[in-house]
Amino acid sequence: MAPTISAPSIPVPQEPSNPVPDSSPARAVVELTISSTPETFSTARELIVCNRLFVLIIIVDLYSSIYSHFTYNLQILSPFYEVIVENPWDEGLIRKLLSSLPKPLSTYSNAFEWKSSLPTIKLKTELTLGPKSFHVDCLLGEGAFAHVYQASVLDTNNPKNNQKVILKVQKPANPWEFYIASQLVERLKPSVRHLYIQFYSAHFFQNGSILVGELYNYGTLLNTINIYKKLPEKVMPQALVIYFAVKILYMVEELHNCGIIHGDIKPDNFILGERLLDNDTCDIDSLSHGLTVIDLGQCIDLKLFPEGTAFTGKCETSGFQCIEMLTQKPWNYQTDYFGIAGTIYCMLFGTYMRVRNEEGIWKTEGVFRRIPNAELWNEFFCSLLNIPDCHHLPSLGALCKKLRDLFQKSYAKEIKFLRNRLVVLLIENKRSRK
Ligand SMILES: Nc1ncnc2c1ncn2[C@@H]1O[C@H](COP(=O)(O)OP(=O)(O)O)[C@@H](O)[C@H]1O
Ligand SMILES: [Mg+2]
Repeated sequence: MAPTISAPSIPVPQEPSNPVPDSSPARAVVELTISSTPETFSTARELIVCNRLFVLIIIVDLYSSIYSHFTYNLQILSPFYEVIVENPWDEGLIRKLLSSLPKPLSTYSNAFEWKSSLPTIKLKTELTLGPKSFHVDCLLGEGAFAHVYQASVLDTNNPKNNQKVILKVQKPANPWEFYIASQLVERLKPSVRHLYIQFYSAHFFQNGSILVGELYNYGTLLNTINIYKKLPEKVMPQALVIYFAVKILYMVEELHNCGIIHGDIKPDNFILGERLLDNDTCDIDSLSHGLTVIDLGQCIDLKLFPEGTAFTGKCETSGFQCIEMLTQKPWNYQTDYFGIAGTIYCMLFGTYMRVRNEEGIWKTEGVFRRIPNAELWNEFFCSLLNIPDCHHLPSLGALCKKLRDLFQKSYAKEIKFLRNRLVVLLIENKRSRK
């Protein structure tokens, strides 16, 4: 197909200049197809420069075999373009991305591919996965995609080894989550790796997969929120909300810094582990708080797309669609910003966040007037829900700092008591579930 460049009807200025994108770029759609030649890219660049256009929108067909050639040519256009990819979770796209990785998953020493179908998982029975055997103890949770079991490692060489793990069982197989987890190990600095779920091994069968991963013993943040709902106070104490919010903002920012969008930030995808019990100082800057990000199945690896890529697809659960998805605007990191807002809202109010548009401003249904720090929260949610576009994202670091300062000023003293009480509540809850 011949490349189509439709020149935008904007007055042509006298001479080409070197425009620098300003804060509100003029937009023009200059369509480039995957078969465009380097000359077409140069012509497009001239068009943009002459017309002082700053943003070029390119709709890319990622299935094409000459996609890499295309992205190479894109560099000619830098910094004028915006690449739109429809659905980052498209099964075909994920398959293609996995099959063209520089280091294929099959070369990982902890990834196993089996010709058989997924073994049946039965509680209280033994399960052998390659070189290791496990006792399947109980079902820990079910998400939209997987069943997660607790299992004990059966180590014949060392019967005293009572290591417990999780088995994330999924049909069809989910190599993507394992890929993302492995990338995180490579991209994150060692001091923060424990803040994200780690997988020891992955087993891929014909019709499903089992990921063997680290176990976190004290339930999800959603579980914690529900524990407070049953108490007279009904919601998590403000000090704990701010404490966890600071940790969440930091964890998501670190993910973004290495080019990964989580894509499914919500209270049931944060989990509490052993470290919560050891963290005796409750220092706001400490990384041993025990909260961990799980469920990397919907992650988007921006490093596999041209720089500046944005998406137009929608996630399936409607309550979790970000403002851009609701208003048909391109998005990238915004989905996680919305997820952060939804998670913190849930801690503050004990209910899921719902949003509405009031005279052009997106707001939450719940009003902050009646809760402590109303003004701060109002501003906080306003900036997370009203993002102008992909080029004007609020800084998670700056939002985190505001909450951190408030915590230091007003809540640092009570946190230890509240954390200890939460530990007791979690232990009691765990016992009652047995
Ligand atoms: N490492 C873990 N330790 C303990 N429980 C877990 C762990 N990972 C997942 N779970 C439990 O299983 C549920 C589903 O897991 P998740 O990875 O979110 O799967 P899905 O992709 O189906 O949402 C979680 O909400 C949580 O209750
Ligand atoms: Mg989940």
